[in-house]
Amino acid sequence: MYPLRRNRRLRKSEAIRSLVRETRLSPDDFLVPLFVVEGKGVKEAIPSMPGYFRMSLDYLREEVKELWGMGLGAVLLFVKVPDDLKDNKGTEALNQDGLMQRGVKTIKDACPDMLVMTDVALDPYSSVGHDGLVLEGEVLNDETAELLAEMSITHARAGADFVAPSDMMDGRILTIREALDDEELSNTGIMSYSAKYASAFYGPFRDALDSAPVNMENIPKDKKTYQMDPANRHEALRETEMDIDEGADIVMVKPGISYLDIVRDIKNEIEVPLAVYQVSGEYAMVKAAAEKGWLDHDAVMLEQLIAIKRAGADIIASYFAKEAIKLI
Ligand code: PBG
Repeated sequence: MYPLRRNRRLRKSEAIRSLVRETRLSPDDFLVPLFVVEGKGVKEAIPSMPGYFRMSLDYLREEVKELWGMGLGAVLLFVKVPDDLKDNKGTEALNQDGLMQRGVKTIKDACPDMLVMTDVALDPYSSVGHDGLVLEGEVLNDETAELLAEMSITHARAGADFVAPSDMMDGRILTIREALDDEELSNTGIMSYSAKYASAFYGPFRDALDSAPVNMENIPKDKKTYQMDPANRHEALRETEMDIDEGADIVMVKPGISYLDIVRDIKNEIEVPLAVYQVSGEYAMVKAAAEKGWLDHDAVMLEQLIAIKRAGADIIASYFAKEAIKLI
């Protein structure tokens, strides 16, 4: 005890601090989300996500080469679907020559060793902005899961290494796993968004993809009947264990910073890799406060990323990946 023990000895200089540091960030912690649009030569700023862009496939090609050169070897792909292709049936989601499927091929062509994960959910394709099919005010579960399984097959055939269902329908991991195996796509992995909360932090993402639920009669105004209640803790572990039993190779907690208690709970109980998604609203808050001069952008960014890893993340999906890697 004091004065025999003095903890400040281990904080005396950067040399000793770095020698005893418990957590470090490296490029191979990161999964980089990318937003793709139709067209050529398109690189559109996203107003609520300063410094982030939607890009057409020609820019995507250059982007993944740059990421690879920086040591970032894994991407998570999202598409912005033109309005005239949206419906409440998921038609475009199953198009083997759709934007997502061409996006995967483009990346594999530009950078064959890049790991490609694809978002699997209906919201970017949905005329009503839901992750599933909507009938009479209800988001249908089993019908949606079947559709997501067919969608996953098209992503796997295009060359995706992992499909990443972000929808939170019950049983979709098993449905997708069986469908992939039936099509002899058993080498395609599944990263499940297993504990995904009904969060207000997804706002900027819905701006980016124009994918928010529409304000119409008989259309649920939010996603609370499928995404989890932010008040719940035990439910997260139950969801995660079910997804692992159904065949998830990687599981996820989302959002990040406000849910690090959940991350640690799950990390202590499971033995598959755990991903954490630092979502669009978390990114936007840091950007906005830094723009006002109220926070030190780089310091806060690195502190949040370290906190996510310290809490138990094996994989960090973050819009900050590139900026963070330049600093470490
Ligand atoms: C939709 C999906 C969302 C995000 C990833 N996939 C939004 C939502 O559930 O409404 C959010 C990501 C972010 O905010 O960065 N399936």
